[in-house]
Amino acid sequence: MRAVGATASVLVPLLAACSPEVPARSAAEAPAPSATEADPGFASLSAHAPEHFGFGAPASEDRVARWDIDVKPDGEGLPPGSGSVAEGRLIYETYCLQCHGPTGTEGPNDRLVSAGEWEQWPAGRTVGGYWPYATTLFDYTRKAMPQTTPGTLSDDEVYAVVGYVLHLGGIVSADAVMDSASLVAVEMPARDRFVPDDRTDGPEIR
Ligand code: HEC
Repeated sequence: MRAVGATASVLVPLLAACSPEVPARSAAEAPAPSATEADPGFASLSAHAPEHFGFGAPASEDRVARWDIDVKPDGEGLPPGSGSVAEGRLIYETYCLQCHGPTGTEGPNDRLVSAGEWEQWPAGRTVGGYWPYATTLFDYTRKAMPQTTPGTLSDDEVYAVVGYVLHLGGIVSADAVMDSASLVAVEMPARDRFVPDDRTDGPEIR
């Protein structure tokens, strides 16, 4: 049975559920309905929709600020605060070591410190081998680590532990202090292994 129109083609999967001899069409095979076929009544529905539904509240600046914590590669969005490599060591040993190992190479989870060429996985796909910016390392650590309790470190603690991870990888010295300026200034070994993807989906494919 081939569909003769939009209505029939929508019905096929429903009938298939009742009679096993009619093969169900996968979503990929089904023709994509146009906007009007998909929802012919949308315009009239929205004309009758209430202005608001009476729940929710406007997002306050404070709430937005607590979610809007992205840090860009150029350091835009880095918060105030600072932390030293020495302070970071304590934080690392308390909150990170059990998953990343005493020197960042042992695991059981991802290696943070390279023990091979960057092309090698997993030995080289590490902070030193594969992160082009120290700023986004801050961003990731603040949002995602420690893996089971992300978001629990203060900004000072994140600066400190990022400094310590960079130090474990031989990227900053033992007396380094990380803050918004020093983090931007870190030259990551993998800096030139990436190019900004500025394609706009046009003919300029590289
Ligand atoms: C409960 C285990 C656990 C703890 C604790 C933990 N991590 Fe992780 N970490 C992981 C796992 C798992 C991944 C890989 C996540 C992924 O690939 O999605 C990871 C990935 C990372 C990465 C990215 C590594 C890469 O592949 O480039 C960094 C950096 C990192 N963790 C830093 C930290 C820091 C700093 C702490 C302590 C503040 C910490 N982690 C605590 C489990 C943990």
